[in-house]
Amino acid sequence: MKIEIKNLYKIFGKSPKKVISLLQEGMNKEDILKKTGNSVGVNNANFQVNEGEFFVIMGLSGSGKSTLLRCLNRLIEPTSGEILIDGQDVLKCNEEELREIRRKKMAMVFQNFGLLPHRTVCKNVEFGLEIQGIDEKIRTEKAYKALELVGLKGYEEKMPHELSGGMQQRVGLARGLATEPEILLMDEAFSALDPLIRKDMQQEMIEIQSKMKKTIIFITHDLDEALRLGDRIAIMKDGVIEQIGTSEDILANPASEYVRKFTQDVDRTKVMTAGSIMQRTNVIISTKDGPKAAARAMEEQGISSIYVTDKDRILQGIVKIDDAIESYKKGEKDISDIIIKEVAVTSPETSIAELLPIAKDISYPIAVVDKENKMLGIIKRSTIIAGIIGEEECR
Ligand SMILES: Nc1ncnc2c1ncn2[C@@H]1O[C@H](COP(=O)(O)OP(=O)(O)OP(=O)(O)O)[C@@H](O)[C@H]1O
Ligand SMILES: [Mg+2]
Repeated sequence: MKIEIKNLYKIFGKSPKKVISLLQEGMNKEDILKKTGNSVGVNNANFQVNEGEFFVIMGLSGSGKSTLLRCLNRLIEPTSGEILIDGQDVLKCNEEELREIRRKKMAMVFQNFGLLPHRTVCKNVEFGLEIQGIDEKIRTEKAYKALELVGLKGYEEKMPHELSGGMQQRVGLARGLATEPEILLMDEAFSALDPLIRKDMQQEMIEIQSKMKKTIIFITHDLDEALRLGDRIAIMKDGVIEQIGTSEDILANPASEYVRKFTQDVDRTKVMTAGSIMQRTNVIISTKDGPKAAARAMEEQGISSIYVTDKDRILQGIVKIDDAIESYKKGEKDISDIIIKEVAVTSPETSIAELLPIAKDISYPIAVVDKENKMLGIIKRSTIIAGIIGEEECR
């Protein structure tokens, strides 16, 4: 685990310790502001971020996202709690250790780029390396490399004002990457970009991350951005982390009304996957079963077709009830002749959007199989529809 946050509080105001007791007694942020004049920034945050994880923080304006992020490198001094980075408690670091962490371990990328107007693009990217006292030649090499990574090869010697907003944001990102930090902290880094450029930047970020595998904490207001980028998403309200989970967790099981409101406009069909909505089923038969057993199994379950697997649960096909009954009447002992081998299968990673056209054309549930064709579960058409409208399936 890369980062671990325990019982973290940040109170802005004159009586932070008192406010923490009030919070622990259950008083809310609004009443605390009225009663004490203190602002609750972060209220008892507890979470972990794994190495190489893309961790997104979301929430309405004022919910404490930036405060939480800035506590990590102590740009904001937390009121209490623990922040462990690679096991080292940042709150116990002295000035020197802290400077080391800020320069080498973490880099911050901001919304307003923070570029220096009188320096070339390259010199802007070199900035962090210069502070580290790195030799000019190596500095320039690293800056060129970082600029290439963000797609700005050829722009190294331009001035910031010669670049578009999106390109300036890339320079900001390159500057963050140039020091080769293990952790990137990104506060609304893409918010100032217009929607199309923003989509490009998101794609770029996905590609960069697949190469670099940094640990990234990324703040955004935009749920679509969060869903696209985040391995996990934390949703904050009034300084509290209301829920942490993968996009699917959050869409399928919102922990509160606030989270549900956030997610209600999302196109679930693109996020929810076959694996998250499938039912693990034991209603399958084995190639060893005869037509009578097959017919009986379907009868008992009130279904008209049944999947057949071998003893290792490798999918063999499907048998229809009419075929099973006919075969039994003919005195057949074995179902091998009536197994229909061409069936609709899908992988657990497939999105519901891709399942819909398959489900439309078949009268039986879709089989979910792994790479070895092992049967993982089934998806009924009613389950797909329930997944889309975001409700528990009605039975
Ligand atoms: N320097 C400060 N002094 C006093 N209160 C502050 C300070 N910084 C933040 N706050 C308060 O802390 C709370 C959280 O603010 P924060 O900036 O972390 O929110 P945010 O989620 O980043 O919002 P936004 O989406 O608008 O950037 C707010 O109530 C804010 O008023
Ligand atoms: Mg903010």
